[in-house]
Amino acid sequence: MCGIVGYTGYQQALPLLLEGLKRLEYRGYDSAGIAIVQEGRLALHKKEGKIATLEEHLNGNSASGTTGVGHTRWATHGAPTDLNAHPHLDCTGRLAVVHNGIIENYLELRRGLAARGHRLVSDTDTEVIPHLIEEFYDGDLFAALKRAVPLLRGSYAVAAVVASEPGRVVAARRDSPLIVGLSGEENFLASDIPAVLSSTRRTYILEDGEFADVRSDGVFVCDGAGQRRHKEIFEVKWDAAQAEKAPYEHFMHKEIHEQPKVLRDTLRGRISGDEVVFPELRLDPELLKSCKRLFITACGTAYHAGLIGKALVERLVRLPVEVDIASEFRYRDPLIGPGDILIVVSQSGETADTLAAMREAKARGASVLAVTNVVGSSVSREADDVLYTWAGPEIAVASTKAYVAQVLVLTLFAIYMARERQTAPPELLRELVGELPHLSKYVTSVLTREEEIATLAAARQHVSCTFFIGRGLDWAVAAEGALKLKEISYIHAEAYAAGELKHGTLALVTEGVPVMALATQPALFEKVVSNIKEVKARGADVLAVTSEAEGAITEVADAVIGLPKVHPLLAPAVAVVPLQLFAYHAAVARGCDVDKPRNLAKSVTVE
Ligand code: G6P
Repeated sequence: MCGIVGYTGYQQALPLLLEGLKRLEYRGYDSAGIAIVQEGRLALHKKEGKIATLEEHLNGNSASGTTGVGHTRWATHGAPTDLNAHPHLDCTGRLAVVHNGIIENYLELRRGLAARGHRLVSDTDTEVIPHLIEEFYDGDLFAALKRAVPLLRGSYAVAAVVASEPGRVVAARRDSPLIVGLSGEENFLASDIPAVLSSTRRTYILEDGEFADVRSDGVFVCDGAGQRRHKEIFEVKWDAAQAEKAPYEHFMHKEIHEQPKVLRDTLRGRISGDEVVFPELRLDPELLKSCKRLFITACGTAYHAGLIGKALVERLVRLPVEVDIASEFRYRDPLIGPGDILIVVSQSGETADTLAAMREAKARGASVLAVTNVVGSSVSREADDVLYTWAGPEIAVASTKAYVAQVLVLTLFAIYMARERQTAPPELLRELVGELPHLSKYVTSVLTREEEIATLAAARQHVSCTFFIGRGLDWAVAAEGALKLKEISYIHAEAYAAGELKHGTLALVTEGVPVMALATQPALFEKVVSNIKEVKARGADVLAVTSEAEGAITEVADAVIGLPKVHPLLAPAVAVVPLQLFAYHAAVARGCDVDKPRNLAKSVTVE
């Protein structure tokens, strides 16, 4: 996720671009840049770091001109450096492009461009775009963009300027947001509405497949065939601070709702036919085939994703997996060494305990594979190899979308290894791969039941304790559900293996104690129903989360949250969603500071 702004009008572009970028910083902030059209040439300034760093650098540097584009980056391809920051240029240095999204076929395009004599200097996927436009450019930037864009596969919001056409910014979008802001004799482009709100409230949203030719006296929008699209302008009513989260009141809520897209983005380019592919994986294939044990380490929510990873690898790859909390792993003199693989899972890639655990394993000779969300983070730099989660920046302290992305990447990895090592029936692997693209739709369908879940949560806002129970994969999901509830609502919550309750914790289940029971695993369904009966007999208030929302379970539970039918091995990414919503609405009902819970931090960089 990155942020784009474009401006053309009668004012100096620079302050407007910087103001817009600051409003988009929530979309990512590891580097930033601007390109301004200046008397037949481009002024280009790019800097690693936050927008404030770019601003400091611009002090004293001339960048006058009334047309330009700007970008705040959240690295995907290539580390956050000055060179990889956007805008990117063509060979002539007169054409600049900013981009948000991922170009899946960039390696292939890059090879072709290099063979035709282009010089590409960055590690980004984006840089192919200005060079492709350059090939088609004969004095009309809009026409060249329309010819270049069909060659791109993946997701993109693209904006471009060229030195020879002052007063023009052109753009295209597919699967990445882009809006137009209109204000008399000046017009804007941006990834999101907050970027333009200090100048105008008149906007419209560009749709997938649309192209925009933005000039100071008007904006022309058309489809790929050049057919004009008439856009309906709407007046924005909210203020800029609200708009970053709009239409949601909290980032956590917004991030929960982003999950269908996150699942699509994280899957993008990783399925070919009926197989999982990891074009980015460099780990020695021999090691993947020969390793005898796997370790997973992480903290917090990422640790819970690791529990799912363990269950899937053991099930599909038939390889023993140890999962450890990173702060434990680092001090337990772990039995790990050459020939072992450690997977570290970390949203931020900066968690101190996770980093230390990873260094410990490396020092003992193990190979480290990172699953992280932040390109250029310490974990991504120090690991032997990285599989990224494409969740975009997560702002709420309580992790939601990063978790489903981690679960998805670990699932893909288990399927990939199972094929490499031929440890699971090919038809099972094919079935799983066939089902993966549907996950996003299943999550969407759970999100449509939000009101019902909010009512259940609000009715239980005054309880002092809630239990989450399940077996197998459901137990791992229960752990994440309990963490969500306690960290944001401050209700004590505990996850328990459903079969273990009777060995002690059942003593705490009394009249009216909420028990959230997960039952997504057909093979364990009857066992969980028996456990529900056990807690019911002690007066528990049972909420069941299940894909079998009929029969036995409806008879015993007080309320049932039905899930779409999903393959049991893929259920966690779907089953966690009602638990996230439950925690969120309980916290809202209790008036808690949802995005910044007390005593907690998003990234814990101290031990
Ligand atoms: C903090 C956050 C959690 C997160 C954990 C691990 O405790 O509040 O949401 O799960 O750190 O963070 P990481 O960035 O390594 O995934």
